[in-house]
Amino acid sequence: MADIIAIDGPVASGKGSVSAGVAKVLGFHVLDSGALYRLAGTACVKEGVSLDDQAAVTKVAENMKPLFKDGRIYLNDEDVTDVIRTEEAGLNASQIAAYPTVRDALFQLQRRCAQEPGLVADGRDMGAVVFPDACLKIFLTASAESRAKRRYNQLKEKGIDSKIDDLVSDLKERDRRDTERAVAPLKPAEGARILDSSELTLQETIDKVLSWYRE
Ligand code: CDP
Repeated sequence: MADIIAIDGPVASGKGSVSAGVAKVLGFHVLDSGALYRLAGTACVKEGVSLDDQAAVTKVAENMKPLFKDGRIYLNDEDVTDVIRTEEAGLNASQIAAYPTVRDALFQLQRRCAQEPGLVADGRDMGAVVFPDACLKIFLTASAESRAKRRYNQLKEKGIDSKIDDLVSDLKERDRRDTERAVAPLKPAEGARILDSSELTLQETIDKVLSWYRE
C-alpha cells in the first residue's frame, strides 16, 4: 500500500498549497478531493439539475467523467478549471457534500488515487473516512481572518475582486455547514495532529508536515 498523507481542514486553511508543496518534495501524487465536490456541483448547474434534488445530484456525481490534464480540469470537453474555484462553486459543493449518496458516489474515485510512490490527499474526511489507513493525518487550521485574507489574495491573483468581509461570512457559512452536517462532519480524524498555520508561512507549514512524516 502506498504511503498516504491525509490533510483535512476548514475552508481556505491552506490545504491545497501545503499538499502540493509536500507532494512535490516527496514526489507523491496529489488528490484535491474538494475539486470533485466542486465539479459535481458545477456539473449539476450546467445540466440544470436542482441542488435540492438529492437523487438527481447523486446521478450526476455517479456519471460525471472529469478529465485532469496538464493542470487543467475538463467536464465534457469544457475547461472548468476556473469556474469550479469561484465562491459560488464552493458553496454549491458544500451543499451537495452533505448528501451521503453523493459522498458514496465519489468514494471509489478518491480511493483509486492511492498509487505508488504515495499520495497527499486533501479535503474534509480524508483521514477519517476515505483513507483511515493513512500513515500521517493532519488537521490544518487557521483563524477565520487569516483564511479570508489568503482566499482574497488567491482570488486577486486570478484577477477576481472580492471583499474580505464577504469572504469571512462565506467561509463561516461553509464551515458551519461542513461541521454541522450529519455525514462526515468536519473534525479532526482520530489520531490526527493539529497544525495551526495562522502564524506560519507556507514553507514553514510544509516543513512541519514533512518533519512529522519523517519521524
Ligand atoms: O478550498 P476550500 O477549502 O475552499 O474548499 P474545497 O476543499 O475545494 O471543498 C469545497 C467543499 O466541498 C467543502 O466546503 C466541503 O463541503 C466539500 N468537501 C467535502 O465535503 N469533503 C471533502 N473531502 C472535500 C470537500
